[in-house]
Formats: sequence, C-alpha cells, structure tokens
Amino acid sequence: IPPALAVLRGRILSFLAAPKGPGDAASYRYFPDGVVVSEAGRITRVGPAAEVLPTLPAGTAVDHYPDDLILPGFIDAHLHFPQTQVIASYGAQLLEWLQKYTFIAEQRYGDPVYAERQAAWFLRELLANGTTTAAVYGSVHPQSAEAFFAESERLGTAMIAGKVMMDRNAPPGLLDTAQSSYDDSKRLLQRWHGNGRQRYAITPRFAITSTEAQLEAAGALAREFPDAYVQTHIAENLQEIEAVRSLFPDSRDYLDVYDRYGLLGPKTLFGHCIHLEERERQRMAETGSVAVFCPTSNLFIGSGLFPMKDLARRDPPARIAVATDVGGGTSYSMLRTLGEGYKVQQLQGANVSALEAFHLLTAGNAEVLGLADEIGTIAPGRHADLVVLDARATSAMAHRMEAVDADLEEELFILMTLGDDRSIKATYIQGRRMHEREGTRSRSPA
Ligand code: GUN
Ligand code: ZN
Repeated sequence: IPPALAVLRGRILSFLAAPKGPGDAASYRYFPDGVVVSEAGRITRVGPAAEVLPTLPAGTAVDHYPDDLILPGFIDAHLHFPQTQVIASYGAQLLEWLQKYTFIAEQRYGDPVYAERQAAWFLRELLANGTTTAAVYGSVHPQSAEAFFAESERLGTAMIAGKVMMDRNAPPGLLDTAQSSYDDSKRLLQRWHGNGRQRYAITPRFAITSTEAQLEAAGALAREFPDAYVQTHIAENLQEIEAVRSLFPDSRDYLDVYDRYGLLGPKTLFGHCIHLEERERQRMAETGSVAVFCPTSNLFIGSGLFPMKDLARRDPPARIAVATDVGGGTSYSMLRTLGEGYKVQQLQGANVSALEAFHLLTAGNAEVLGLADEIGTIAPGRHADLVVLDARATSAMAHRMEAVDADLEEELFILMTLGDDRSIKATYIQGRRMHEREGTRSRSPA
C-alpha cells in the first residue's frame, strides 16, 4: 500500500514535450530546489520548495536530496526476464546466440519455484537501476509470466509482460503449440491485463519461431483484446531476415509477415528495426507501430546500427522507444543504454542530445507505450514513480563534474555517458522508497 503522504525535495526535472535539440528550454520544467508531494501513490503537487513546504502539515517528513536530480522513473521498453544468466555470453550473433545460450537458459523457467526466485531478483535489479516500468518477455512457460506479474504486483510496479509464443525452430522443451499458446496467453491476459498496474503483451517471439497458425492465433488475440500490447522482434540481423524470407515466401517483406496477421498498430512494440526497407519503415510509421532501439544489444550481438534519424523524419514520424534488451543487451542501466545509443548515432553522423535522450527515457517511452497519463512525467495525477540521480557517483564523475558550472544539460550528458547503477541514489514506487544505494561515493582516499 502506498504511503498516505510522501515528500521529496531536490532538483526536479520533468519533460513537457519532445526537445527539438540541445538548449530547448521550453521542452522541460526544472526546479533547482523543488518539492514533489504524493498522496496514496499519486503526485498531488510539484513546485519550488519555498512555495510548497510551508503548506505541508507541521512535522511532515521530507526526503531531502539537495545535490541530486529527481526525475520520473526510467522506462525500459524491451527486455527478457529469463535471460539474466544469458547476459555476457561470448562469441555469437543472433541465431547462434539463441541456440547456444538463450534457448538453453530459458528452459529452466518451466519450474515455478525457480521462476519466482528469478523474478524477485530481476525486479530488484531494475529498481536498483532506476527502472520503474518495463516491457518484458517471459519464457514460453506461462509460469514465467505468472511469477513475474505476481512479484511486480507485490512491489507495486507498473509492468507490461507476456509469455513468449514459439512453436517451431527451438528445442522441444521450449515449444508450445498454436492452440496452447493462444489458450495460455488468453488466460494470463484475462488474469493480469489491467489488474492493478499490470498489463499484458501478446508476445510471439519472432517470425522464425512461430508457424503461420501461431501468428494467426496471436492476431486473433490482438483482435479480441485490442487494448492489450503486442511485442516481438524484427529486422535485427541479416541472417534472420534471410530465414524469414524462406519461411514466408508469400510475404513481400519481414514486416508484412506480421501485418498479414493484424499485428501492427500503436500498441505494437517491434524490437530492433535495424535493417528494415523503405516500405517497411513507412508502414511502421503510418500504422503507429513502435520501433524499439536497443543499442547495447545491437552492438554486443553485432546486429547493426539503428537508423533513428531516418525513422524520426518520416511523415508521420515513426514512434521510437529505447530499451536495454537484456540479455542480448549488456546492461540493466538505462543510463548506459543512452550512452551507447549516443555512440550508435555518432557512427551514423547524427547526435542525440542529453535532453532528447532523457526525454526518450521518461516521457517519450511513456507516450509511445500509451502510459503518459500514468508515468513518465512529474505532474499532478501521475504515479509517484521517481528516481534520484547522483552525477558525482564515482570518482571519475565527481572529477568531471568539477568542470561543470551549473549546466543542467552538461550534467545530464555526463550522467548518460559515465553513469550506471552507482548514480541511482534512490528509486521510489508510488511514493515509497524501494531502493536506496549503499555508500559507493566515499571511494576517494582518506
Ligand atoms: N529474436 C528472437 N528472440 C530474441 C531474443 O531473445 N533476443 C534478441 N536480441 N533477439 C531475438
Ligand atoms: Zn529482445
């Protein structure tokens, strides 16, 4: 149960609109000494400390972070709950990486006791990294999604998740059938979608591991439950695209495979979207489907460079989210993810400003997930899911910050370039502090 009243004081930053570039001060609201008040988990007031504090009942406890930034909790739009022991697996690109590591590790999630233990660890790790909402893939086993949702409900976090649907091209221990995947997904969806803060994503893994019958079943579910999410992978790797071409000779391209089964739309999250063709990019944009950028994964599995600027300049612009893709991705930290995202765009001659990056991470991801009225900004009515950020968390960061003269954008850029979980001083869910960093700061010699 969220606290009746919770008050945080610090340097509060929240976005109002997508920044048009560096220096776009109209895109955000910043209180250098601000207070955010939440009641029963929801924000009721935000403003300068000098205005808000005197209106609070005498003796109200205040969590005061004078030097730190308070932002909306981070949102990770794509990662895999059963891959926490796949992360950092050596020497393979996508299809081999799946067979050699991922499809082995995911088989353990049929055991509900194991799945529950892993869910507890996983959600704790997200909170320790400042991530308060995520779109999560389970394993094929319904128990994995069940364990995940149960733990998320216990913590009070807003999560999107689904059991993976996969009925071919994987070990027998990891296969369902078109019918069982429909039945199991539907049961989970009916139990969890809109239950408190939990939401369901219909999750066909990708075209290679689903028969036509299973994609048909996924499409049927999406039609029956139009406000559920759909999440899958697309155009991550060139060999993957070749395989899809030979498995679906009647489809004109990869996106068309999903399109034919009615799987596109504003609630559909497509992981990767690296090697889409012109027609596919346009179709993504016009259907409002979301392209999810997973930089650490794309670099680590050697998949390629996400064409962010090309997607963004379409009419209408393609909707873009950012994500870790653990365990293809190499970090749970959305700060590190932004830092690698910046480098991926650099390699294509483009820049992502700190304002754009932090907007994407909070209000941007919330908007493309259709959750902007619940999370992603610090404003009355939103849930008090908050992160407290320390730009001086390490010796190297503190040293770098000595050269910064109260420049908010520079501080944010340092956070996304050098920051990780050590910069997460605290994480709040619905006004309750759920994570507090241990003393990592006093690492300088006495
Ligand atoms: N494509 C299909 N499954 C996966 C997965 O688990 N990780 C990544 N990165 N790509 C995929
Ligand atoms: Zn993935």
